Amino acid sequence: MGVALLSLVRHFVLFFITLGLIPHQQTLASITRHYKFDVCIQLQNVTRLCHTKSIVTVNGQFPGPRIVAREGDHLLIKVVNHVQSNISIHWHGIRQLQTGWADGPAYITQCPMQTGNNYVYNFTIIGQRGTLWWHAHISWLRSTTYGPLIILPKRGVPYPFTKPYKEVPIIFGEWWNVDPEAVINQALQTGGGPNVSDAYTINGLPGPLYNCSAKDTFKLKVQVVGKTYLLRLINAALNDELFFSIANHTLKVVETDAVYVKPFDTNTILIAPGQTTNVLLKTKPNFPNATFLMTARPYVTGLGTFDNSTVAAILEYETTTLHSILPLNKLPLHKPILPALNDTSFATKFASKLRSLNTPEFPANVPQKVDKRLFFTIGLGTNPCSQQQHKNQTCQGPNGTMFAASINNVSFTMPNTALLQSHFSGQSKGVYSPDFPISPSIPFNYTGAQLNNTNVSNGTKLMVLPFNTSVELVLQDTSILGAESHPLHLHGFNFFVVGQGFGNFDQNYDPRKFNLVDPVERNTVSVPSGGWVAIRFLADNPGVWFMHCHLEIHTSWGLKMAWVVLDGELPNQKLLPPPLDLPKC
Ligand code: C2O
Repeated sequence: MGVALLSLVRHFVLFFITLGLIPHQQTLASITRHYKFDVCIQLQNVTRLCHTKSIVTVNGQFPGPRIVAREGDHLLIKVVNHVQSNISIHWHGIRQLQTGWADGPAYITQCPMQTGNNYVYNFTIIGQRGTLWWHAHISWLRSTTYGPLIILPKRGVPYPFTKPYKEVPIIFGEWWNVDPEAVINQALQTGGGPNVSDAYTINGLPGPLYNCSAKDTFKLKVQVVGKTYLLRLINAALNDELFFSIANHTLKVVETDAVYVKPFDTNTILIAPGQTTNVLLKTKPNFPNATFLMTARPYVTGLGTFDNSTVAAILEYETTTLHSILPLNKLPLHKPILPALNDTSFATKFASKLRSLNTPEFPANVPQKVDKRLFFTIGLGTNPCSQQQHKNQTCQGPNGTMFAASINNVSFTMPNTALLQSHFSGQSKGVYSPDFPISPSIPFNYTGAQLNNTNVSNGTKLMVLPFNTSVELVLQDTSILGAESHPLHLHGFNFFVVGQGFGNFDQNYDPRKFNLVDPVERNTVSVPSGGWVAIRFLADNPGVWFMHCHLEIHTSWGLKMAWVVLDGELPNQKLLPPPLDLPKC
């Protein structure tokens, strides 16, 4: 465009702005995006590892469809339930300011949709940009019902890192040859551990290291000459934290859980279920005459059995025969070396590298004062084998009991109506009690020798917070039935990970080492195995918010609780009324 023309355009724009005819930049940029999610059994049965089964999907896609929006956009997602099971969908990591009704966890913020019913999830993306994801939030249906939720920066706002040539979502999943609903139902019946998965998947595909699966391999085709790819990594596996690496390539971590971090280089990343990690992959400047595997396998600390297999995808350089001396399939194939399955020292180092970007544009707003200090123990436990169906039988949990899991020894009992509705309508009596303990009732050596009594208590207890309470929460792993790394996920908020350590948290000593300047901000954090993590968040979002271990089996066993955040004074500090189409129980 010529200079004269440009200045003419500028004049026109100025003229209209003065007249108030051109809306403000921000309003101009935000749009409403409509999506339709048909929850259905996939018509063509899906085959993996030579086993064919029908799975619950959205729009017949596995993994499910991508949602792409910009910061500031308004989303209207109509979900229709065509399957026999009840369903609800959670937009994992979305803050849902004032719109808790759209959060999605079944029996927490809504009743699930029954067969034939539908519900429109209605929310605005405020102050967030990056990779998140969505998944079914009832029973284990999220094993096949999940997909990426990508939030681009506002139009014209650049990333705080090299502009990528291409962006590619990489979703890790977990595959069972049988129906995962049968797996969890059986485990809850017998009281024992669940059958482990048969494979991990990358973008729904297990890859060449599994039986029968070479044709089911995700291929990332890249171009030579040092192009930058943004990989949006999402761990949608049910029960396993994962190491991930690409042979002969370095990854630059730039974002976690839709918050920018100080970039750092690493060969391997660790990602827990619920977490997302954006990494930059720079391709080689010259044709490498090789192909490269990208692999993932679990990081495991617990005592139970687990799926120790490895998922692989292929990084392939696109080329003409001019470059390559050999046809592509004859090129040497490089394999990454992943840390040992129990490499806690890697986990600790990796966690300590994560820091908020903390620039004027993307500040780390760490709460500096604390209104409420809380100390929650988390871990496994047992319930006695007393249920009716076990008459004259022993259960398959430890010493004939049933596995349970708890927070402050309270194993959460799911209500049969939605907690948010009970709260909003002032009818919480008989549904939940507002007395979640602020610390364990009897302190003990949390990470010491095995206890004789491993029994948990059961109940639907919630923690009530006045609007704008600044919370410091220490999550302490216990060694009851084995210490284990637990990825804790908080709905409705991001929190800052201000400290972590091993052994028992020491209130006198440990807070001195807290990072209140640039701690990483996220929505899911792994509590170190046999250790603790301290987080801070500001309760500025009224509603009822679920918090649970994102290892699905632990959630099933009761490692979950919920917060009630009360309304503030101002109109924009109040939970909005429920939508008219909110499903009924
Ligand atoms: Cu991604 Cu309550 O979950």
